[in-house]
Amino acid sequence: MPASPQKSSSLLDTRTIFCGDNLDQLRKLPDACIDLIYIDPPFNSNRTYEVFWGESKEKRSFEDRHESTRAYIEFMRPRCVELARVLKKTGSIYLHCDWHASHYVKVMLDQIFGEQNFINEIIWKRQSSHNDAKQGSKHLGRIHDTLFLYGGGDTDYFFKHQYRPYDESYLEKFYKHVEPRTGRRYQLGDLGAPGGSAPSKGNPHYEFLGVTRYWRYSRERMQELYDQGLIVQTKPGAVPRFKRYLDEGLGVPVGSVWDDINPIQSQDAERLGYPTQKPLKLLERILEISSDPNDIVLDAFCGCGTALVAAQNLGRQWIGIDISPTACRVMAKRLRDVCKLPEDEKLWRAGRGFVVRDLPWSEKQLRRIPPFEFENWAVIALGGIPNKAQVGDMGIDGRIYPVSSMPTRSGKTAGELDFMDVWYPIQVKQKDKVGRPDIDAFEAAMLRERRTKGFFVSFEFSSDALREIDAFFRREHCIIVPLTVQEILEESVARKLT
Ligand SMILES: C[S@@+](CC[C@H](N)C(=O)[O-])C[C@H]1O[C@@H](n2cnc3c(N)ncnc32)[C@H](O)[C@@H]1O
Repeated sequence: MPASPQKSSSLLDTRTIFCGDNLDQLRKLPDACIDLIYIDPPFNSNRTYEVFWGESKEKRSFEDRHESTRAYIEFMRPRCVELARVLKKTGSIYLHCDWHASHYVKVMLDQIFGEQNFINEIIWKRQSSHNDAKQGSKHLGRIHDTLFLYGGGDTDYFFKHQYRPYDESYLEKFYKHVEPRTGRRYQLGDLGAPGGSAPSKGNPHYEFLGVTRYWRYSRERMQELYDQGLIVQTKPGAVPRFKRYLDEGLGVPVGSVWDDINPIQSQDAERLGYPTQKPLKLLERILEISSDPNDIVLDAFCGCGTALVAAQNLGRQWIGIDISPTACRVMAKRLRDVCKLPEDEKLWRAGRGFVVRDLPWSEKQLRRIPPFEFENWAVIALGGIPNKAQVGDMGIDGRIYPVSSMPTRSGKTAGELDFMDVWYPIQVKQKDKVGRPDIDAFEAAMLRERRTKGFFVSFEFSSDALREIDAFFRREHCIIVPLTVQEILEESVARKLT
């Protein structure tokens, strides 16, 4: 697909990823400038350190559900107010959520966008029930997400129906005829007058192929269709019927239940390895329903950039915002690799390519910031959660909770995510070169916490340190992943984490 040749608005920098909190970034955008907004916020995004691969919907205990829902709505409200401000009157917004908060989200959106501008509640069936309703569980499988669609206020908002192919059982039932000469599949449609047989409807009444009745078309038109081979009489005396070819039909109009788009599967080429990644097909459908080529699409929680890739593929302009520098780097790489779009300031100025703005740190800056900020930066960049206490951390600066983690029943309930038992420690040192003693200290912390895998972040590792990491693995079968700041700044870190 061609890259859009130029910026569609002099007020807006499109083909741009902004790194930062979307509340701040949205405030920089002018009013009514966006045609289509899609957002897929993480449920507990009130924790600003909850970055895109750290999100797991199932990891909360029931006890913290109510608190989380309230916090989520409080977090979302000012952001949705900003989104409503930047949305054009003819535009649309899709908010992607699930059972955790969808009912509260709908009430909030009605208040902000106006109940009268609500268009659809879309159900996306994202998995089959056996994935969630496990034996022994006492609930039905939670197998769908909800997308709320609102218009920007104008009754003439942009909307284009989409169609999906007929399924095989429908075809077998309704398109059972095949034209021997061409192989085209067709069904036989009625040629009778639409208003029935009442002469008052003004339908023509005459005899055609031995059948006399009220017809849909004039005698001349019927003859024309017959001569073109479009009217069939299955046996003498039978009512003539009209051939409706399958290849001329649009298909089934897409309704509000979307069960024909699979979630990302492990073998999918588009899969990047982040659990919150949405399928491209889902975003392409949204964009096709609610935008035209060259329209401006905004994703203010864009994760690994699915909406941006869909927009680029379909020739839309786009703007992405994400708070996680790592997410920004991952999506930049994706746009370069998948869309062959160069990340290049000069080309971007010339109307091609794209840019990432406001990435907070360069290696040089990172050497200068206070140690605790450096620690936070590193832990957040890895998708982890920093320790609250900056002192007395006992050799661990943060934790990564893998998405597969489940709450432990016997676990503590106080404190955020304390009930989670599966986690990987992160140690961060703002040092030019980490040496063997630093590794020894981290090993001790890992053994004390009975962790078999941990991450160590610094600017560089001495060869002694790397040798000790190998020895630790041979001795204790524990893995320490050494990560340099450079690797985090580049997206190569994502590979090491997944
Ligand atoms: C569920 S993921 C989005 C996934 C995305 N739809 C995709 O297909 O890749 C949510 C994203 O929102 C980002 N996020 C959370 N809070 C944010 C905030 N305040 N501002 C901007 N982005 C935020 C997270 O870093 C995360 O990448």
